Amino acid sequence: MNNTTIDWNQKARDTATRLSGKILIDGQLTDALCRDTIDVIHPGDISNIGHVPRCNEADVDRAVNSAQQAFSSWRNVAARERGRQLQLAADQLEIEKELIARLCSLDTGNAIRTQSRPETASTIDLTRMFGGLASELKGETVPSASANVLQFSIREPIGVVGGIIPWNAPLFLFVAKVAPALAAGNTVVIKTAEQAPLCVLLVAEIMNRELPPGVLNIVSGYGEECGKPLCEHPLVRKVTFTGSMPVGCAIAGYVASKLCPVTLELGGKNPAIIMPDADLDLAIPGIIDGMRYTRQGQACTAATRVFVHRDLYDQVVEGVVTSLAKLKLGDPLDDETDMGCIISEEQLNRTLHYMEIARNTEGARILFGGERPTEPLLAKGYYYPPTLLDGLQLDNDVCRDEIFGPVATLLPFTDFNSVISDANDTEFGLAANLWTRDLARAMAFVNQIEAGFVQVNQCAAPRSNVSYGGIKMSGLGKEYALDSMLNHFTQSKTVMINPGTPAASV
Ligand code: NAI
Ligand code: MG
Repeated sequence: MNNTTIDWNQKARDTATRLSGKILIDGQLTDALCRDTIDVIHPGDISNIGHVPRCNEADVDRAVNSAQQAFSSWRNVAARERGRQLQLAADQLEIEKELIARLCSLDTGNAIRTQSRPETASTIDLTRMFGGLASELKGETVPSASANVLQFSIREPIGVVGGIIPWNAPLFLFVAKVAPALAAGNTVVIKTAEQAPLCVLLVAEIMNRELPPGVLNIVSGYGEECGKPLCEHPLVRKVTFTGSMPVGCAIAGYVASKLCPVTLELGGKNPAIIMPDADLDLAIPGIIDGMRYTRQGQACTAATRVFVHRDLYDQVVEGVVTSLAKLKLGDPLDDETDMGCIISEEQLNRTLHYMEIARNTEGARILFGGERPTEPLLAKGYYYPPTLLDGLQLDNDVCRDEIFGPVATLLPFTDFNSVISDANDTEFGLAANLWTRDLARAMAFVNQIEAGFVQVNQCAAPRSNVSYGGIKMSGLGKEYALDSMLNHFTQSKTVMINPGTPAASV
């Protein structure tokens, strides 16, 4: 405990207990119609922190109907007033930020200092940003062929938005969908991820202090049982999803027959390229940040394929390994911890599976990590150290699949053109970064790389006001910035007004 009298961890556990068994409909935490529940496990010690309803069509229908009913008035609230209410909701989140961050760490196993507090801060920031952008819901006036005809477009809300979110950055991904959707005048039903539902429910409950009932609803449950009926519900007119590529493809299928627009933020197998002229004082910490080791590699932008020019290969190996050794793996709720634990047994097993493949590949080397910790405290949870491999070929599954664990591979190269073609040799097209001091090289990279989120000499995480999304099998559409609100959460109406015959003067 810090130098305060509040035991935040206990408070977060008590909050998890209070929220257990509830969904949020029509502005109220409420019992679900379904009887079954899903246990919520803290992956740091496998303790049960609560449970959430395992909703099916019946609860989805209630939530969607609540959102539909709220839509008829919310859409007519002035845009700036909607924005103001979102900003007031952000102020409420600010008051509760430590509790939110603690519950997020309990849900996810993400470290409080390096992940959950910054994610909570970004969540509040993004909510405020979209609140402020509500006045940007502008249409266009178009010069008309006939002098007296007024021709213009207006942006209107679409209706009820169904959102399905994952567990890896549950708070930020929640508001990345909710805030622009609400600012634009839609109402929302979100299905939380079964692994990390409680921190999102808390955030939604707090936001509901300011929002009208029914505008923001939450259901919980599994993908097939709860997510699919949400997508397919006839009153849901827009779907937004973040998660795995196969599920994203399935979702596009669920909504195809009702021609419902869909935004998909899917996975990546992202390249980082270290050129021989890179500044290694930047690139080495950049590789570690870029791999998102302090999120246990559970990030869609994680740069898991690190192409390093042969001239500085050994130097990079040494630098990265030295830095990885300094990362403190530990209790997610401890302020000293740099890196928490993997979210679930399923995801830990996924990492173990790919490590098994690496171990069975001739020539593969484990440069760092690769063994589960044995200290009693860590052996209790789903901990896995930051792991660095090399000696793998690009066609190895370790280099092709999204592992979503703390495992990166170094790949030596000598030629720029062939490294670009190797970097592009993936079905994904999410993020990519290059380290160089050569501007012409950087521009060639930007031109040739197949990715939606490209950086040079940095590998920052996606953030507010930076339009983010993938190409190829990494997704459809962009989020986190003004264009996401305009392009993905409104529909346009084109209007031509002919004054006709003037009325008789009175
Ligand atoms: P997932 O894609 O299965 O789950 C994400 C969300 O979609 C959850 O809320 C889940 O309940 C829901 N869902 C699952 N199947 C569904 C269906 N048929 N219809 C509607 N909703 C459905 O991801 P999961 O199983 O948690 O993780 C597996 C892998 O997916 C990870 O190892 C990683 O590679 C990738 N992933 C990528 C994410 C990203 O940020 N791009 C986030 C989470 C997972
Ligand atoms: Mg899944």
